[in-house]
Amino acid sequence: MDVSEAVAARMSVRAFLPDPVSDEVITALLAQASRAPSGGNLQPWRIYVVNGSAMTRFRDLMATERKMSSGEYNMYPPDLWEPYRTNRYRIGEQMYATIGIEREDKAGRLAQLARNEDFFGAPAGLFCFVDRRMGEPQWSDLGMFLQTFMLLAVEAGLGTCAQEYWSLFHELVTGFVEAPEEEMLFCGMAIGYVDSEAAVNTLTSERMPVEQWARFL
Ligand SMILES: Cc1cc2nc3c(=O)[nH]c(=O)nc-3n(C[C@H](O)[C@H](O)[C@H](O)COP(=O)(O)O)c2cc1C
Repeated sequence: MDVSEAVAARMSVRAFLPDPVSDEVITALLAQASRAPSGGNLQPWRIYVVNGSAMTRFRDLMATERKMSSGEYNMYPPDLWEPYRTNRYRIGEQMYATIGIEREDKAGRLAQLARNEDFFGAPAGLFCFVDRRMGEPQWSDLGMFLQTFMLLAVEAGLGTCAQEYWSLFHELVTGFVEAPEEEMLFCGMAIGYVDSEAAVNTLTSERMPVEQWARFL
């Protein structure tokens, strides 16, 4: 597989097979992904892996002590404007359409959203933190790390879904992984083998044409 193939094949996977992923495979992906660049080579990513018995314990915790927190950051700016507003709206509509959930079906939409809380059935997950004293450049570095990890996962035959949703549970997650106070949760990531039979995984998300966001001078 070359880079272009991995970039084209990566997608947000929202249904996984229960087949386990070994810690060794995840360790290798983390090590490879750490070749991602970062300003000043700070390598500001802080990653907690939840797999195997830890995932069982985490799922038990969610089942018994599920507690949402008010978010520590805005997932999107308030009153999103065009073209971002439409992009966001369209991906939601298209995703719910794959699984036959109508616009009026609020309960159905909430149920699908809540699948985030089970890592969409993935056997493994990451919680991705950054020191809260870091600024926008280091958050961007974490993003580069995450995309590198997700591309390498494709090469390894795995699917992923980055999940900002977990920021809504930052207190519960921080307590579970025992992250120090100075670390702030950005997102989680579901990792596992793709359930290719699942309708939700048939969606290919759209992209705006290059002319809309790049300009040659
Ligand atoms: C940082 C980040 C956080 C995301 N959080 C979520 C999430 O919480 N739940 C979810 O279903 N998808 C989440 N996504 C997936 C995006 O919706 C998805 O990347 C986008 O719609 C494009 O689709 P694609 O990844 O299939 O190309 C997230 C993506 C990124 C990069």
